[in-house]
Amino acid sequence: MNYTDILNHVREIIQSEGQSGLKNVCETLKSSVRYYNWVGIYYMNDVTQILEIGPYSGAETEHTRIPYGKGICGQVAVSGETFTVQDVSEQDNYIACSIETKSEIVVPIHKGEKLVAQLDIDSHYASPFTSEDEDFLNAVCAEIAMVL
Ligand code: SME
Repeated sequence: MNYTDILNHVREIIQSEGQSGLKNVCETLKSSVRYYNWVGIYYMNDVTQILEIGPYSGAETEHTRIPYGKGICGQVAVSGETFTVQDVSEQDNYIACSIETKSEIVVPIHKGEKLVAQLDIDSHYASPFTSEDEDFLNAVCAEIAMVL
């Protein structure tokens, strides 16, 4: 499947299943792109300043709660901007979920102006993410935002 087809499939899932379809969205992304090996959503909790795990597809993770500022996800909680890490070994502020992970991209999910969640993708491949991935994932996040 190309990105347009995957995005259309994501739209169909969200339109028919709403928020309860988000695990299916994660599974669809993981199974559609060879180098998306863990795909999950973290929700912002501005009261506790901790990210809380939502639906995900891939190996079970013990990082179900991530303080703002910690790791790649925690940095995106503070910056509100996409963070692409082509080589996680070069990142000091990084929380390892799996020794297989070589790279990671975290895309903010905004509802209007407000940062409400993040889409986190881990890859077993080095330097796999392109600007096409960033555009595609921004479009996916805009769809996800509609049901949050
Ligand atoms: N690596 C992330 C932690 C979440 S796991 O990848 C699922 C980080 O540094 O924020």
